[in-house]
Amino acid sequence: METINCETPEELFAEAHRLVAEELEKRLEERETATLTLAGGSTPKALHALLARNESLPWRRIHLFWGDERLVPPDSPDSNYRMARETLVSHIPIPEGNVHRVRTELGAEEAAKDYESTIEGLCGGHTPMLDVVVLGIGPDGHTASLFPGQPQLEATSLVAATPTASRKPQVRRITMTYRLLNSAALVLFLVSGEEKQPVLKHLLAGGAEAAAYPASRVSPSGRLVYLVHPPQPAG
Ligand code: 6PG
Repeated sequence: METINCETPEELFAEAHRLVAEELEKRLEERETATLTLAGGSTPKALHALLARNESLPWRRIHLFWGDERLVPPDSPDSNYRMARETLVSHIPIPEGNVHRVRTELGAEEAAKDYESTIEGLCGGHTPMLDVVVLGIGPDGHTASLFPGQPQLEATSLVAATPTASRKPQVRRITMTYRLLNSAALVLFLVSGEEKQPVLKHLLAGGAEAAAYPASRVSPSGRLVYLVHPPQPAG
């Protein structure tokens, strides 16, 4: 696990943009296509703005997925897909067929099965399955829609439907599971803001206290990088 301490939010997002672009370019040297899995919430918006201005990434060879989605229509203000469409997808020359939103209109269980088969169809033959995964962390230590104490933490599938989320928006979710997230070549945690510092301290220290937080079980076969602001004290 690597921790990159950033003095400003701008530095965090610039570093995230650099790491995402570098890893995608690297994967595209080996394969015709690469995958980028986006996080929901508000933190990723600034990263999306930088990616939206990146004119060197070959978006026609990049496929977008979401680490999780709320069980709401794609045009809902609570939709992670809508957030990404507004901040990234509508600004880049990416083919519609490369944008894989969760089809929440199918209902929770069917949408999860449908998403899993889409991912298996595109990435099933790859090791690791996913290339670049961007994740956020909540103040309760959740990531994607892997919330403390909920059954999806123990799911053996690649994608799971969750009960009503323990945090707003309190709706059911569809989430990538540890089995899928941990099959990534690069996982970037974007952690910015004072309210996350207590959880972040435990996550970076590891050990028993970290285990209480779902984000601690994201341990990919590839690189795991925490991009944090404000900087964490050494030691
Ligand atoms: C979601 C996200 C969730 C998010 C964290 C952090 O659907 O809400 O996937 O896991 O990454 O809650 O959210 P913020 O970036 O808004 O703090």
